[in-house]
Amino acid sequence: ELRGVIALDGPSGTGKSTVARRLAAQLSAGYLDTGAMFRAVTLAVLRAGVDPADAAAVARFVEDVDLRVSTDPLDQDTRLGDEDVNAEIRGNAVTLAVSAVSAVPRVRELLKLHQWRIIEEACSTRGGIVVEGRDIGTAIAPDSPLKVFLTASTDARALRRTNQDAAEGRVSSLDATRADVERRDGLDSSRAASPLQAAEDAVWLDTTDLDIAGVLERILDLVDERG
Ligand code: C5P
Repeated sequence: ELRGVIALDGPSGTGKSTVARRLAAQLSAGYLDTGAMFRAVTLAVLRAGVDPADAAAVARFVEDVDLRVSTDPLDQDTRLGDEDVNAEIRGNAVTLAVSAVSAVPRVRELLKLHQWRIIEEACSTRGGIVVEGRDIGTAIAPDSPLKVFLTASTDARALRRTNQDAAEGRVSSLDATRADVERRDGLDSSRAASPLQAAEDAVWLDTTDLDIAGVLERILDLVDERG
């Protein structure tokens, strides 16, 4: 049984979400997709007609966003108020704007408090939680006993994103997706406020030549070693 937080960080297209969900289900732990939280805030920003590049306006606006997320690995639910926004937050408009919104310090601060509440609740009700994102091991749960930093070649990540888009009914080309993956990684890694970064004590796991089952197996081994 999992105690505490497993931190899964890394750029997009490394298989993070799928692995995190399955890992949580297997360990009967909670699951938190922090990317979905940044995406939902971004959707609210866009809908309100706030310019995502206007950091001051975004910082003011974010105070009023009514974001609700579930931690059930089998039923991941992201809402703005009562509205289920799971599909819409994966669309192009949000993907293009999310790095700008998530670079705003006030956005990170508010979501950090929200993530802490969720983590605390899941640890007391389920014993533990798998949290995936960009800064979980460094900023959100620095005391986590197991931090994994997932990587993969740019080509592998672009291909996975494209396949995932196709599976979920979104049209995308491999070239456009590769460009987007590189653009977002560049922005996420270079921002001042808790950038995408491996914690010093994170275990690096290159998923380029591994399928989901292979990645899951490696991480479960790590859980056993440390448990
Ligand atoms: O994981 P996903 O690709 O859905 O994340 C979307 C975006 O949210 C990332 O590109 C990044 O800008 C932001 N993000 C973040 N910190 C996190 C998780 C996501 O800044 N912990």
